[in-house]
Amino acid sequence: MKIILGVSGGIAAYKAAELARLVMQQGHEVQAVMTAAAQEFVRPLTFAALTGRKVLTDLFAIESAIEHIAVAQEHELMVIAPATADLIARLAHGLADDFLTTLYLAFTGPVVIAPAMNVNMWQHAATQANLETLRQRGHRMVDPDSGYLACGMTGPGRLADPAAILEAIEREARKRRDLEGETVLITAGPTQEPLDPVRYISNRSSGKMGYALAEAAAARGARVILISGPVHLAPPYGVEVVPVRTAAEMRAKVMERLGPAGIVIKSAAVADFHLGTVPTQKVKKTAARISLELDPTPDILAELGRKKGDRLLIGFAAETQNLHQEARRKLESKNCDMVVGNLVGGSSDIGFESDQNEVVLALRTGELISLPRAPKREIAERIFDQVLKLRLALHAADGR
Ligand code: CTP
Repeated sequence: MKIILGVSGGIAAYKAAELARLVMQQGHEVQAVMTAAAQEFVRPLTFAALTGRKVLTDLFAIESAIEHIAVAQEHELMVIAPATADLIARLAHGLADDFLTTLYLAFTGPVVIAPAMNVNMWQHAATQANLETLRQRGHRMVDPDSGYLACGMTGPGRLADPAAILEAIEREARKRRDLEGETVLITAGPTQEPLDPVRYISNRSSGKMGYALAEAAAARGARVILISGPVHLAPPYGVEVVPVRTAAEMRAKVMERLGPAGIVIKSAAVADFHLGTVPTQKVKKTAARISLELDPTPDILAELGRKKGDRLLIGFAAETQNLHQEARRKLESKNCDMVVGNLVGGSSDIGFESDQNEVVLALRTGELISLPRAPKREIAERIFDQVLKLRLALHAADGR
């Protein structure tokens, strides 16, 4: 594999030389890229000698003005070790003021980041927020070790062992474009059911889990169609977003776009009831009390369960109690292959509006798998791992 090794300016820069050696030993090709600060700690010659290639250092001292684009396209994985607090901030905010940061923006493959810094800099809210941004982007972090630091303090901040960084690289390298050739249809967000031209019924779904699934599927090579209720999220890169508002509109778009999809994931929190006839004018406050008579919305998942063919169908169950039983019940009643159950409405830092989630997967095979609390993007990756495993298991059971 062709790997970019980005080195930024910390005392741990010398340990990146050991990492370069280990990565080369695994049979990978390594292109080292150093920031100006890194060169204050280690000379480019060290990396040139180890990798057998000229080290890239300066955006303006290279042969072509678009060399960073060419280098980005030629390589399959980027590892940054050590990543200083400054570099992490520049990556998080998309600054592109030197070769490494410009290359990072032009690079579309997996990124592994191994931070190293003083313990207070590591723990600073600014650094932690920047790290969270990078994690949400799907990059793999190799957290620093705790111990005695060059600054004389003790705590987390020491660059992880090069062997641990190598392991993370190998894991990412195996992480595959394993959804290539696949079409994945995902629904996300809430629906809004109008009561009159200015009011509606909805729920607290933010769409974050569905959008994380769409991002993960696209990164793994799938064509992704994301049918989304109203949310405040940017469309994920490379994903076709189909905006809808009501449950009826969502149903219509799902059925219209179902054809090529081999995997269908219904993470939307669809309203269960709507007003059958919506007044055309705003309802006035004329009575002291009013009551609403609501009709059920179409159950899109149940309908898909009846006509899914050999598609894999994944439903969601957002519950406030009895999570396992409810996930299992919905798996059966809606003829799903997997139901992702999560608890919502209780603790405020997981579930609907949160960037984190903690879920159980009820599978058609009878298995129940718990995924511990993690960023939604990470949970999305684990869900796809299980979806692909499940497909193999079901095919084996079918003798296909
Ligand atoms: N769902 C759907 N269409 C609906 C309602 C729900 O497709 N009209 C889907 C959701 O997208 C989700 C799953 O069904 O994947 C479970 O949604 P949930 O609201 O938890 O289930 P309900 O069928 O409403 O069950 P209950 O009200 O008993 O919890």
